[in-house]
Amino acid sequence: MKIKILSFCGSSRKGSLNQQLLNIAEAGAIAAGAEVTRLRLSDLRLPLYEGDMEAEYGLPEEAQTFKTMIAEHHAILIGTPEHNGGYTALLKNSIDWASRPTAGDPSGLAPFQGKPAALVSASPGAMGGLRSQIALQVTLNKIGVMVIPRSFALGAAHKAFDALGILVDSNAEKMVRDVGAALVGVTASLVQKSLAA
Ligand code: FNR
Repeated sequence: MKIKILSFCGSSRKGSLNQQLLNIAEAGAIAAGAEVTRLRLSDLRLPLYEGDMEAEYGLPEEAQTFKTMIAEHHAILIGTPEHNGGYTALLKNSIDWASRPTAGDPSGLAPFQGKPAALVSASPGAMGGLRSQIALQVTLNKIGVMVIPRSFALGAAHKAFDALGILVDSNAEKMVRDVGAALVGVTASLVQKSLAA
């Protein structure tokens, strides 16, 4: 069975360093045999989460679309920029909407429960957005997502890519591809176990 991975980035900026890094992790996942769907979160055009809006109108269609996309994939791959020591509002808002209950999913968390995820981050700073990974892990664990240990944080990211989007440091390039490959490996063994059970 082909492992299906949903990939999205916390930045929708043209030339996003995190998207560039994510592209490499995606390539690693594809080389390991997975099918990768790339979602641009800002294309969902989700409003800022607001409880009164939800109470009056329910989930926006786009939030349901995001929930369904998560449910229809075996695993998630995320590029997570660091904003003030945390992860971005775009990611938080998208996850918050997708975690809300619906008629068929009273906890709201069904698409997330037990789903493997891998994180990569990039920043011009020295820590490579590592704090955003830590903050995002806390949220993802809370909603039942299993973040795999393999990850990559790219410091000085504004100087790290060549014109083709390849990392100048070939060792780093391999390590980022390995994040995608590791996600496929972990997911495949979980899928096999659940099929055998
Ligand atoms: C940043 N940036 C940043 N970088 C970092 O390493 N630690 C941080 O806490 C912050 N904080 C922060 C806050 C805000 C509001 C912005 C706009 C930026 C810099 C950030 O890492 C840089 O802009 C990246 O290039 C953003 O990721 P993309 O868009 O290139 O993927």
